[in-house]
Amino acid sequence: MERLKGKVAVVTGAGSGIGRSAAELMSRQGARVVVADHDTRGAEETAATIEAAGGTVLPCTVDVTDEGSIADLVAAAVGEFGGLHVLCNHVGGTDPRKDLDLLRMDMDEFDRAVALNVRSTLLGARHAVPHMIRAGGGSVINTASVAALVGDVLQTSYGAVKAAVVSVTKSIAVQYGPQRVRCNAVAPGAVMTPALENNLPADVVEALKKGNALPYLGSPDDIGHTMVFLASDESRYLTGQLLVVDGGMSMQSSAAPGRRAMLPG
Ligand SMILES: NC(=O)c1ccc[n+]([C@@H]2O[C@H](COP(=O)([O-])OP(=O)(O)OC[C@H]3O[C@@H](n4cnc5c(N)ncnc54)[C@H](O)[C@@H]3O)[C@@H](O)[C@H]2O)c1
Repeated sequence: MERLKGKVAVVTGAGSGIGRSAAELMSRQGARVVVADHDTRGAEETAATIEAAGGTVLPCTVDVTDEGSIADLVAAAVGEFGGLHVLCNHVGGTDPRKDLDLLRMDMDEFDRAVALNVRSTLLGARHAVPHMIRAGGGSVINTASVAALVGDVLQTSYGAVKAAVVSVTKSIAVQYGPQRVRCNAVAPGAVMTPALENNLPADVVEALKKGNALPYLGSPDDIGHTMVFLASDESRYLTGQLLVVDGGMSMQSSAAPGRRAMLPG
């Protein structure tokens, strides 16, 4: 099946984890894909996998905190493939050692988080949307997080910047809907990227699983498939929305895991 045939997609953070999965799955559905990452080797590895599977791909080195670098990325995509239809603004995150509670959070880390998560999302869209309008429409996909929806004891900056990503998503959707540019966000829950899988102790993994309604944690492909849907015309009536892909983590009552154990039989 080629659900993205004829489309050109740029995926940032495609050198690893969820971004890599999204790029590979989009290619499998017929998109020509630009895999962009700070980590040149990661981008090249993703590109090699896509090429080996018969896809058309361009690896690019980008720093999404630098507007010039984003402009060069979009220009390279359009120069190579003649247009742009899908942008996946996937890079984000904060440093968990510095992103603490209100009284102990590092404010320089907060500023870095704004640049990495929100400013990068705005800039990516700012450079890509004119090309989407020229193409008759397009889809911007932003990576938020369930952290945007709940309060937490740590990661004050992370929650704030991901909530801002959701807000920016709605503004872009409203502003460019008339030109058929859609903009949606995905909120992953706990996703077992290689980095997490190798570093999380088994008891933490078990605790995360208990917090889900489903009895397993997400894989990068679980998010990648959602991004393929948002990139495709199957989601043509969907804009300005946040799709929560979290195994039921954010909707489950905190009492549910304990009550499950109380069920008879
Ligand atoms: N993994 C999860 O459980 C989870 C949950 C919710 C949200 N997210 C979101 O997913 C995204 C991260 O994806 P992942 O979990 O696959 O992580 P990952 O660490 O595997 O991938 C992130 C990629 O981004 C690249 N990158 C970092 N800074 C960059 C920069 N300035 N410019 C360009 N590229 C840069 C890295 O080199 C890396 O390849 C973030 O937006 C994060 O907030 C992840």
